[in-house]
Order: sequence, then C-alpha cells, then structure tokens
Amino acid sequence: MTSENMPLDYRFSKVLFTKEDIDKAAQRIAKLIDDEYKNTDKIPVFVVVLKGAVMWAGDLLRHIQSDLEIDFMNISSYHGGTKSSENIELISQLSTDVEDRDVLIIEDIVDTGLSLAFLKDLFIKEMGASSARVITMLDKKAIRKADVEVEFAGFEIDDVFIVGYGLDYKEIWRNIPFVGVINPEVI
Ligand code: PRP
Repeated sequence: MTSENMPLDYRFSKVLFTKEDIDKAAQRIAKLIDDEYKNTDKIPVFVVVLKGAVMWAGDLLRHIQSDLEIDFMNISSYHGGTKSSENIELISQLSTDVEDRDVLIIEDIVDTGLSLAFLKDLFIKEMGASSARVITMLDKKAIRKADVEVEFAGFEIDDVFIVGYGLDYKEIWRNIPFVGVINPEVI
C-alpha cells in the first residue's frame, strides 16, 4: 500500500510513510551495515533509544545479518509535548560496556540534534566507545540546533509534527503503523 491510497482517520491530515516505505528504508540501511561489517571480526553494539525508536529498530535489526549486540537506553527531551524542551534527561542507562566498541545509535527522529549530540558525547567521551554513529528513521534538518553528523537516515522530512511508528503525541499513538502528519484540529 502506498501513502497515497492509505486510509486516513481524523487524527491525521496525511500519511507520510507507510510501513512498507519504512521497511524498504530499513533494508537499504541494513545492507550498508552488512557491507561494512561482514568481513570484519568487529561486533557493533546497537543502542535502541527508547521509546520512540522501538518499531524502527525492530525493522532495521531484522534485516541485518552480521553479528551484533543490542542494548537500550531511555532518554527524554520532549516530555510529552510537541516542541523540544532542550532539556535532556537520562532515564535509564546501558548495561553493556561499550569501551573500544562501535556504537550504532538507533533513533526514530533527529530534530534539534541535541539528544544525538548528548548521546554521541556520552558514548565517546564518557564511555570510551571507538565510534558512535546514528541510524535514524527520520531526519528533520530544518530545526537543527546542534552541529551533529547524521550518518544514516531513512527519510528527510520538513518541519511538520508527525506521529506514529514509535513517535508519540502525549505518549499515545506510538502504535500507529505509519508515520502521519497530525491533524492540527486534534491537538
Ligand atoms: C525524541 C526522539 C529523539 C529526540 C529527538 O525523543 O526519540 O530521541 O526526541 O529530538 P532532538 O533531536 O530535538 O533532541 P523523546 O524525548 O520525545 O522521547 P520518546 O522517544 O520517549 O518519545
């Protein structure tokens, strides 16, 4: 099903990406990861940033064939609203020692980039990782505030408020099986 013929409900004004679109992006990036790691003895650590990245991480990780480890970290910057608070809170830590390891951060969205800059600094400067790169489903470049590199992105998007496929509005609608633009009348 394409985003043009996907049925909408009142909560959304537009479907931006269907789960099929997202799966194709996950396959494309998984192949890049496999190409990089298949002939090495390195085992990268994939860090899923809770909560928003859960669905995208499931798709992406299923398509990667190389050996890897998975861990989770919970940070929060939006506190349930529609704008970044620029105040990043570390809610739960990793249980993996990432010293001298390649870290691949899995994010649903890079927005201001402040969360990503915080995470990259944490992994490299405080935890001694040899690298810390991001694989994000969505890259919203328009409102970037931090000078941070986005190594892998499923899609670039404009500055619209989107929900679904892991992204929430006041903690709900993460389970919507597509990325949609929220109907301004419901917020
Ligand atoms: C979202 C998203 C990123 C961050 C991106 O998380 O998952 O971690 O914001 O925004 P930034 O580039 O402006 O820092 P959020 O704090 O909403 O938590 P959640 O994943 O639990 O919804």
